[in-house]
Amino acid sequence: MTSLISDFRVSQYLSRVPHPYTLEDGRWFLDFAPKSDAEGSTIHRVIAAGADGAFLGVMALNGIDDAADGEIGYWLGHKYWGKGYGTEALAPMIDLVFEAKPVARLVAHVIKENIGSVRVVEKNGFRHAGRDEMDRPVQGDRMIFERYELAREDRISRG
Ligand SMILES: CC(C)(COP(=O)(O)OP(=O)(O)OC[C@H]1O[C@@H](n2cnc3c(N)ncnc32)[C@H](O)[C@@H]1OP(=O)(O)O)[C@@H](O)C(=O)NCCC(=O)NCCS
Repeated sequence: MTSLISDFRVSQYLSRVPHPYTLEDGRWFLDFAPKSDAEGSTIHRVIAAGADGAFLGVMALNGIDDAADGEIGYWLGHKYWGKGYGTEALAPMIDLVFEAKPVARLVAHVIKENIGSVRVVEKNGFRHAGRDEMDRPVQGDRMIFERYELAREDRISRG
């Protein structure tokens, strides 16, 4: 995991992933993710592929303590980009979240230059819903993010 996320091409648009990314950062995440999932405030899933279940990346839902919005985030190792994995992996995550949590809608905040991420949310039914200026804790600045939303009732039916 650390070798994939320590690539700046992967972390440059992520507000909570430090760069450089150390083994200690990886250990912190592997401790944090299951604990916060158990507390109910997040859902983390590994993105894996193939018969051997190769590790491709991570998908996360954050900010669901108040049962209003859930904030979705994801990343894939650079060598796995552009093969449809991001689009494919988000679909079951959406189903899982709406089934497991009473959130009214999912939100994704995407920097507009991050074309691949914009397409991933659009292809999963998210709609552009405005712009939010938000803190980026790791970069220590504020940035305008495009806000994409998927309401529970607009979820794409997959039979
Ligand atoms: C965002 C990310 C998960 C996209 O995953 P992916 O598996 O490469 O996306 P897909 O292969 O499903 O591609 C979806 C669409 O985006 C396009 N696309 C993917 N990467 C692109 C890129 N770098 N530039 C332009 N278009 C891109 C694909 O061609 C495809 O287009 P189409 O639907 O019009 O045919 C991946 O690029 C990533 O991990 N980026 C770094 C982390 C990140 O930015 N996370 C999101 C933060 S909001």
